[in-house]
Amino acid sequence: MVDVILGLQWGDEGKGKIVDWFAKDYDVIARFQGGPNAGHTLYVQNKKIVLHQIPSGVFHSNTTNLIGNGVVLDPVILKKECDTVQSFGVDLKKNLFISERTHLILPTHRALDKAAEISKGNQKIGSTLKGIGPAYMDKTGRNGLRVGDLLDKNFTTSYIKLRLKHQKLLDNYSFTEDISAWEEEFFEAIEFLRGLNIVNGEYFINEKLKQGKKVLAEGAQGSMLDIDFGTFPFVTSSNTISAAVCNGLGVAPQQIRDVIGITKAYCTRVGSGPFPTELHDETGEELRKTGNEFGATTGRPRRCGWIDLVALRYACMINGVTSLVMTKADVLDNFTGLKLCVAYRINGNETTEIPFRMEKFNIEPVYKDFSGWNTNISAAKGYKELPVQMKSYIEFINQYTGVEIDFISNGPEREQIVKVD
Ligand code: GDP
Ligand code: IMO
Ligand code: MG
Repeated sequence: MVDVILGLQWGDEGKGKIVDWFAKDYDVIARFQGGPNAGHTLYVQNKKIVLHQIPSGVFHSNTTNLIGNGVVLDPVILKKECDTVQSFGVDLKKNLFISERTHLILPTHRALDKAAEISKGNQKIGSTLKGIGPAYMDKTGRNGLRVGDLLDKNFTTSYIKLRLKHQKLLDNYSFTEDISAWEEEFFEAIEFLRGLNIVNGEYFINEKLKQGKKVLAEGAQGSMLDIDFGTFPFVTSSNTISAAVCNGLGVAPQQIRDVIGITKAYCTRVGSGPFPTELHDETGEELRKTGNEFGATTGRPRRCGWIDLVALRYACMINGVTSLVMTKADVLDNFTGLKLCVAYRINGNETTEIPFRMEKFNIEPVYKDFSGWNTNISAAKGYKELPVQMKSYIEFINQYTGVEIDFISNGPEREQIVKVD
């Protein structure tokens, strides 16, 4: 049986914290897509940790963590992450496994990412510049190198061949930055990677499932950044939705049970692209300040706004969400009034559907107003302790999306989570 946890907005919904919290009930935690563009924050021994590629279950000694074939992996970033995780006494030989089919991010992928973004000028995507797009392009273009290839004696020859191909593309972009230091790091890191547990991911996970083990698939990014269903072209280069669990791990659809979708109590986005409820005023600034909304991977300030229920209901539909978790509810503690977007007004007409090429329209959000709770909820342990205004906010979201919020996160710490009963 496989349960899925994924983000329903534009990323950074708090997946790291929630996966870490749920992880104790699972045997295997697996990443199925994305790469080091992800930044998943969790707290261990009161220390803040940001994971980029290692699944967020890694700090539970009884879980097995798998980096699935759907991920694109940067060995340099992985090595650094492994050093951090090991400094907490985690035995990676025992609990981290990597699929041999996982594609590698090469230094030239990062260079190509940068060159492509520069060439787009003010149409840039706002990529994290981790080489994600170019690595997935080499996967679908059938050129990429995979983790299993590291064990082949001809790896360096294959690397040079691909690097030459990339150089031609870089020359086309007139990209002249010296990346030899990146390559040096890369070759050091692949030595390290060769020493980790490289497995056939699909047999590995299906064997676990056959033994009755419970698997939790951890999404990266968010549904509105999905390559097909997100705000294309301002998206990431992978499918981020629940369907991607099957091809990102090699598990059959009938193995999937619960799809737990995470939404913030408001909304954020980092990078370019449409964001109908974005606030450019002091309320947006207040959300950013109170929510500490700065990118976990790039440090960029996140764009902030009210919760968008049109987008949320769409994400629930595409993913088949069975349960919602609402994070960062405490960030709204001091707001006297709250708004939820219930429709888009486009050219004078109201719609509750996501339009094709959202960025082409001037979308005016239609809001439902709610009064704030003006109570500090960060110490609440049970649903009974939560203010009545918050309960009606939650009830409204449940009704609009047709899915129930089952947990409310009321602070960044591991134990700050309230079960709705
Ligand atoms: P992810 O990419 O979905 O894992 O999310 P990020 O880690 O990028 O961003 C979420 C941020 O919010 C992190 O700094 C978390 O520590 C923090 N966070 C998570 N849940 C809560 C919450 O309920 N309240 C507050 N105040 N912060 C939270
Ligand atoms: P987590 O897993 C938020 C955004 C980038 C950019 C676009 C494409 O932490 O939620 P890419 O580097 O993939 O080419 O960037 O997607 N983006 C994210 N935004 N959280 C993430 O991951 C993101 N990963 C990519 O800002 O707009
Ligand atoms: Mg993040």
